[in-house]
Amino acid sequence: MKIAVFASGGGSNFQQLIDRKASGELSAEIALLVGNNSKATCFERARNANIPALHISPAHFETEDEYLEKLLSALQNAKVELIVLAGYMRKLPDGLITAFRNRIVNIHPALLPAFGGQGMYGMNVHKAVKEFGAKITGITIHFVDEEYDHGAIVAQCSVPVYSEDSAEDIATRVLKCEHANYWRAVDAISRGSITVEDGVVRGSID
Ligand code: GRF
Repeated sequence: MKIAVFASGGGSNFQQLIDRKASGELSAEIALLVGNNSKATCFERARNANIPALHISPAHFETEDEYLEKLLSALQNAKVELIVLAGYMRKLPDGLITAFRNRIVNIHPALLPAFGGQGMYGMNVHKAVKEFGAKITGITIHFVDEEYDHGAIVAQCSVPVYSEDSAEDIATRVLKCEHANYWRAVDAISRGSITVEDGVVRGSID
């Protein structure tokens, strides 16, 4: 299965996918990187791995329909069947979500529905976990629907939170958990081991 990765920043999860593909563990083919910030490190990672990359920003288009058309044609040209969001900081047009229903996957750095929703991204999430005094946090890998941080859950993994942890410590532990598991989920989806029935995921990433 051909996949497109959408990223806005450093792209360490994107790099994991690249590395697992290089080692032969990931069966999906990374056909395209789409980014909205041309200076982001994810573009460098794509160049180094010879993965085609497109800079597509909603700011380049007058209407959302034009933006959607551009995304759809880029994905169609690359024969993409699954979109993998890896730190993508823009809300996707609803038309894209409709066209790729249950074929867009995202990773959130907490255990949804806790610590999710608008404004809950990056360090905001880990600061909120610390302030709340949660004893565990983790990652949620989920299909994307029209609501923020919502959609059928593919996998969740927890990590402990210790009282002496800073928000940065929590972020480091969570990111490590992301790196260990996101590529597995992408692999399971691309091999057809994960299906969605009535909004609930069947199958596991193991
Ligand atoms: C990760 O923490 C992920 O959970 C969130 O954005 C971050 C992306 O990190 N959606 P990276 O760009 O893959 O390093």
